[in-house]
Amino acid sequence: MCGIVGCILKENEDVAPILFDCISKLEYRGYDSIGLATFSDGKINIKKDKGKIIEVDKSLDLKDMPGSFGIAHVRWATHGDPSKLNAHPHVDEDNTVAVVHNGIIENYLEIKEELISEGHVFKSDTDTEVIAHLIEKFMDEGFDLEHAVRKTIGIIEGAYALAAISINEPDKIVATRKDSPLIVGLGENGYYLASDSPAILKYAKDIIYPEKGEIVIIDRDGVVVHDEFDNVVNKDIETINWTPEMAEKEGYDHFMIKEINEQATAVRNTLTQRENVQEIIDDIGDIQRICFVACGTSYHASLTGKYLMESLAGIPTDVILASEFKYSANTLNDKTLVIFISQSGETADSLKALDVANQTSKTLGIVNVAGSAITRRADYVIQTQAGPEIGVAATKTYVAQLTSIYLLAALVSENDELLNELDMVPDFIDETLKDVDYVMELSKRYNYARDFFYLGRGYSYPTALEGALKLKEISYIHGEGYAAGELKHGPLALIDEGIPVVVIIPPGDNYRKTMSNLEEVKSRGANVLAIGSKDDESLKAKANAVIGINPEVKEIIAPLVYIVPLQLIAYYITLEKGHDPDKPKNLAKCVTVE
Ligand code: M6R
Repeated sequence: MCGIVGCILKENEDVAPILFDCISKLEYRGYDSIGLATFSDGKINIKKDKGKIIEVDKSLDLKDMPGSFGIAHVRWATHGDPSKLNAHPHVDEDNTVAVVHNGIIENYLEIKEELISEGHVFKSDTDTEVIAHLIEKFMDEGFDLEHAVRKTIGIIEGAYALAAISINEPDKIVATRKDSPLIVGLGENGYYLASDSPAILKYAKDIIYPEKGEIVIIDRDGVVVHDEFDNVVNKDIETINWTPEMAEKEGYDHFMIKEINEQATAVRNTLTQRENVQEIIDDIGDIQRICFVACGTSYHASLTGKYLMESLAGIPTDVILASEFKYSANTLNDKTLVIFISQSGETADSLKALDVANQTSKTLGIVNVAGSAITRRADYVIQTQAGPEIGVAATKTYVAQLTSIYLLAALVSENDELLNELDMVPDFIDETLKDVDYVMELSKRYNYARDFFYLGRGYSYPTALEGALKLKEISYIHGEGYAAGELKHGPLALIDEGIPVVVIIPPGDNYRKTMSNLEEVKSRGANVLAIGSKDDESLKAKANAVIGINPEVKEIIAPLVYIVPLQLIAYYITLEKGHDPDKPKNLAKCVTVE
């Protein structure tokens, strides 16, 4: 979590407005504090405070700072409360070095104690501050900034992407990374560092991806990358094909609703990966078991993958939460394909699991962010084509992940009928989005609730889980997703008069059984909101409200379409409750800590 940015301009112009613009694009990574450091007239200038960017800018005018190079940070607190003192950048006691950091320094307490015993004075409760003091200590011993950073990373343990500036080496930013993302942008007006590409899309399209332990030195003349032995590394330069507009709200009130509305395009674009997917299948060869590994929304996409792979391709498939993966790892072998689903490609739990899986099995990443860690470490990669997703709640990346999984399953099982049905999905999504007014009205009716249940069977079960996750993470209403048949084994006890139960009931094999479950909750007083076929008169008679979907959307492809009204409900209920759907409390878009 947290986002970092660095920039050095070729001309001697003020960098603060650019740093501010770049770091604002990373607010989805952390929004409890913001800070900028620039260098001018032989000193480091710092403005920082707790609060959202807009609030802190209002009180401190972050864009008004002299200096043509600097660093910036948005924070998602791990060590120490959100506060001005704990906000980055952090400095040594004499303000000679400033540092921004994304990640966690696991051994910071030991380091801090030692530094205190040597006379260093600390101001914050953060793990990061030790980095500033270590760099200063090594520079005092005679090391230059680059080598002081190298000595520092020889001491700190944990995950980091960090950038440092020093008054003793003006016009230079030194950065490095291990297990946290960092990209370097080569722009026309200057050179950039960032945790993620949306930060710098407006300024630089040519990107270098530093590897763990490499040291990046940027000055006004360019970028040099050194390996651990000080050798220059010739890095590939990759060009990002995302546009700056893709990371803007473009007239929508929130990124989330913009991204919900981009889902048809996300599916259409991801379907263009068909040839790539086929090539991967041909290359992988004989596979006797599949393991999906993921977290959160990506885990729900993976669950749909299990139903598809087992029913269409007959391949035994497990779905394992990334954080639990190591406990199952000794059943893997070289005939297992381990598939990592992740929109960011940087999720720490998934990366740890990928390192384990790489030891025994073939690995495939289904990832939205090009150049991210999973794309570099997995044997094969399918890139979902959702474009940048800024809202913390995953929406268009979810349907793009599903699309990739459907493509994979349809191609493995040579199921042309499913391939044809997939082509119709974008239109079904757009048609469903037209009912937005009705969903808004329902959101007003349902925002009273303290708890929601979401029920679905078979392919609709992961949709129920994902619908519940969307609701809880942004509206803070408790939502539970259940396999419809499981309710009577315990949770039915919680069904009360008026409790909303969302039932996902597309036409298909599971329809009748799901209808029985609907009646079970209805007869106990639940307020049933059903998502089913527009033509389903019997559903309309039984449920309290129905969101109607095109009747041609059959059970098997329903996950791609039926999720749309559930996302909309979560979004509009959140607005009703006065919360910001793009920045839910305690959450960040990219979870780079275990
Ligand atoms: O980047 P990833 O897909 O690996 O992230 C996994 C989860 O953190 C993520 O899906 C999270 O659950 C969503 N933001 C929820 O909307």
